[in-house]
Amino acid sequence: MIRKRTRTRGGGGTPARGRLRAALGATTTALLTVTALAALPQTTAHAAGTLGAAAAEQGRYFGAAVAANHLGEAQYAATLDREFNSVTPENEMKWDAVEPSRGSFSFSRADQIVDHARGKGMKVRGHTLVWHSQLPGWVSGLGASDLRSAMNNHITQVMTHYKGDIHSWDVVNEAFQDGGSGARRSSPFQDRLGDGFIEEAFRTARATDPAAKLCYNDYNTDGVNAKSNAVYNMVKDFKSRGVPIDCVGFQSHFNPNSPVPSDYRANLQRFADLGVDVQITELDIEGSGQAQATNYGNVVRACLAVSRCTGITVWGIPDKYSWRSSGTPLLFDDNYNKKPAYDAALSALGGTPGEDPEEPGEPGEPGACTAAYTTAEQWSGGYNGKVTITAGSTAISSWSVNLTIASSQQVVSVWNGSPSTNGNVMTVRSTWNGSLAPGASTSFGFTVNGGTTPAPQVGTCTAS
Ligand code: G3I
Repeated sequence: MIRKRTRTRGGGGTPARGRLRAALGATTTALLTVTALAALPQTTAHAAGTLGAAAAEQGRYFGAAVAANHLGEAQYAATLDREFNSVTPENEMKWDAVEPSRGSFSFSRADQIVDHARGKGMKVRGHTLVWHSQLPGWVSGLGASDLRSAMNNHITQVMTHYKGDIHSWDVVNEAFQDGGSGARRSSPFQDRLGDGFIEEAFRTARATDPAAKLCYNDYNTDGVNAKSNAVYNMVKDFKSRGVPIDCVGFQSHFNPNSPVPSDYRANLQRFADLGVDVQITELDIEGSGQAQATNYGNVVRACLAVSRCTGITVWGIPDKYSWRSSGTPLLFDDNYNKKPAYDAALSALGGTPGEDPEEPGEPGEPGACTAAYTTAEQWSGGYNGKVTITAGSTAISSWSVNLTIASSQQVVSVWNGSPSTNGNVMTVRSTWNGSLAPGASTSFGFTVNGGTTPAPQVGTCTAS
């Protein structure tokens, strides 16, 4: 079951992810340093043969844009949960969704997506803080000084609300014009605050959540052209002046009029060479059959060829929910069947198309395991938890379990297991105790401060 979050308007409070990390870091003598923990894989893809699992093996994430109103559709949620290990809310974090009137924040639809993702151990991309589109009318009506404070307040409130939840934020989206001018796009921000609004947005973002990667995101910047040159020069300038920027997002919306450029990899690489990560943030490629599959394979291979290309997000799951549905640009058809493009993307990631992933956790199934939680000890203000792992009807050689910890609690040490965190979801993997005979059990333990209730939620046990 997914933990219900209690969040107040405008955010506030210490973030769950920050607390878990800080607490684990404070007990380096017990197990881990903060550095070591940060270096641990943070994904929990379910099995080999899925996009997320294959990408994780390459040290990348593979994400999808998600719409809150589809999460109740069983096949949509099942495909998301099986295949992807990062999500981007497609519209729910945009300005018109979260601050429809000045100072009045509404996070419930975005929270739905974040809660779903965190409950499954997925990462979340934040999209987007400052953009000329999907901007409520009240913003466009403000004068310069009011607009500056509204922009900074919006960034601060939204990032604070999601502090610790988001691995990368699109701080500024689509600030440059199409075409050959290399100029900034006209927008309320550009027109009233001038070029400096981008820098100001990034500085405010860094001050609010220093742990989040801060990205500039745009389209038609996927190859070397006047627009990408303009973005490149801005990033270069930011890096030389110490303006905080960590990543550049390449939306990668492709169609016959705007095909995958032949210098796609080279363009990603030149940005990476400036000292930023690059991410493919909104990938979709109109077409069908082998031609579409070839394009998907090429895009994935381009990312893998650039060591700072940290992940790929496709802009939707089945074709029918794409913003360009008539172009059938995604990896799954309207009935959630895998398309040739899926196989090509998975192969390019080094995965194995055609193999259905194991459904994890059915007791008695070959290779499966189950996990059961008990409170071993408790005292005022804390407890020791114990999770017992039991192999199914065949031997296993490793296991992994997700635990969702209440946001009011902090894990301060873990033993007989190797922890990594994503938000307040802790994934514990076997260390020396992964090999279990059929039906055999082992356990790991952990100490929690910050109250005795609620008990942690134990997720699926995954075995190999
Ligand atoms: O939810 C309402 C619905 O109640 C109403 O009946 C309907 C009538 O038009 O509109 C629905 O909202 C639409 C929303 O998508 C949800 O489907 C909006 O009209 C529509 O404008 C909005 O489009 C989104 C678009 O951004 C807005 O610019 C797309 O879903 C979304 O995929 C797209 O995403 C953008 C990225 O954020 C930035 N890069 C480009 C990308 C593609 O345009």
